[in-house]
Amino acid sequence: MMQFDFHSTRSILVERGGAANLAKIIQARGGKSVLIVTDPGVLSAGLLSQSQQGFKDLGIALDVFSQVQADPPISVIENAVNAAQQCRADYIVGFGGGSSMDVAKLVALLATGKEKLSEVYGVGVAKGPRLPLILVPTTAGTGSEVTTISIVTVSDSEKKGVVSPQLLPDLALLDAQLTLGLPSHVTAATGIDAMVHAIEAFTTKRLKNPISDCLAKEALRLLASNLHRAVRSGNDIEARENMLLGACLAGMAFTNAPVAGVHALAYPIGARFHVPHGLSNALMLGPVMRFNLEQVHFMYAELGQIIQPGLLGSTLDQATQLADYLGSLATELGLPGRLTDVGITENDINQLAADAMLQTRLLMNSPREITLQDAAALYAEAL
Ligand SMILES: NC(=O)c1ccc[n+]([C@@H]2O[C@H](COP(=O)([O-])OP(=O)(O)OC[C@H]3O[C@@H](n4cnc5c(N)ncnc54)[C@H](O)[C@@H]3O)[C@@H](O)[C@H]2O)c1
Ligand SMILES: [Fe+2]
Repeated sequence: MMQFDFHSTRSILVERGGAANLAKIIQARGGKSVLIVTDPGVLSAGLLSQSQQGFKDLGIALDVFSQVQADPPISVIENAVNAAQQCRADYIVGFGGGSSMDVAKLVALLATGKEKLSEVYGVGVAKGPRLPLILVPTTAGTGSEVTTISIVTVSDSEKKGVVSPQLLPDLALLDAQLTLGLPSHVTAATGIDAMVHAIEAFTTKRLKNPISDCLAKEALRLLASNLHRAVRSGNDIEARENMLLGACLAGMAFTNAPVAGVHALAYPIGARFHVPHGLSNALMLGPVMRFNLEQVHFMYAELGQIIQPGLLGSTLDQATQLADYLGSLATELGLPGRLTDVGITENDINQLAADAMLQTRLLMNSPREITLQDAAALYAEAL
């Protein structure tokens, strides 16, 4: 018997140049005092300027919190919540990559003063209410604009998730023009992150369902056929738009059919060594796929026909070829390909493996159980 539950963002607006209409959209929804949550990189790239002009033109109060850091720590969230309370924001906009959108989600939740960050970690713990929330991605990666998740770096070694339908925004605005200037290494890393979302959603042990499967496959079709183009020619708006949509579809898939081993092993790399999220995933993708081959080779083979049409041989052969191809994708796109390239040595493996074991929320979704010894072996393979 089939039984599943599917959540997504209520409205998704896809429009080139649409960010210029942000103020109009918020005015139509009754917002009067807006806080945009972003990071210094997005601000200095000038990505906010068109939106800001709109607020001036319409006379809507606007404050900008631009102190988000990648892999946001607790202090950043607290500061952003304070900023929202001080300017009495009645509308929150997350404008940037996953880091800015994740902070904005928690600001919308916590600025009401009803819940505390320390009390909302985990699945379904945050109850709301929250302030109205719009998310505007400027990377094509996390899909945070359609996920129920916000990731917080809680210590030098650990990332925790707040997971609740309350964190889905009221509107996601996908404006591909905002992603034109994304540097090629960020395009590559975030694009691989999105591919990993789709692959892990399709092969997850828990909550896989026909809707998430459709979304994951279409996401991979868009991502695999546009990633190289977007990395090579950043100004190719069509490739950028396809990447943004692909990342969004992958987000819709994995928020309902959750990610697993690649993310569980990638998070400690991000937390301890400050390796960008997409790159951490890229480094662990090949080893984890090879580890899962026996359990899900037929699913990998199905995805292989989308990512690399024409793969030949048994499903196990096709799946193996796909794992090898994806394992070398980072290097092919000009990113570091091994853990040693990002400063990780053999001496770090036991600590990383112990950290990964704390990611129980993700490990429980793995198609093959990952023990402490397995985690250490997977890191060793990725060295
Ligand atoms: N909520 C979720 O569902 C979810 C899923 C996966 C990852 N995450 C989290 O998201 C974060 C990673 O997000 P990310 O990979 O999007 O990176 P990011 O938000 O950390 O941004 C990376 C860098 O790119 C810059 N940047 C962003 N857009 C730009 C643009 N258009 N032009 C120029 N520079 C730009 C930023 O200034 C920043 O320096 C991590 O904290 C990760 O844990 C969340
Ligand atoms: Fe991710």
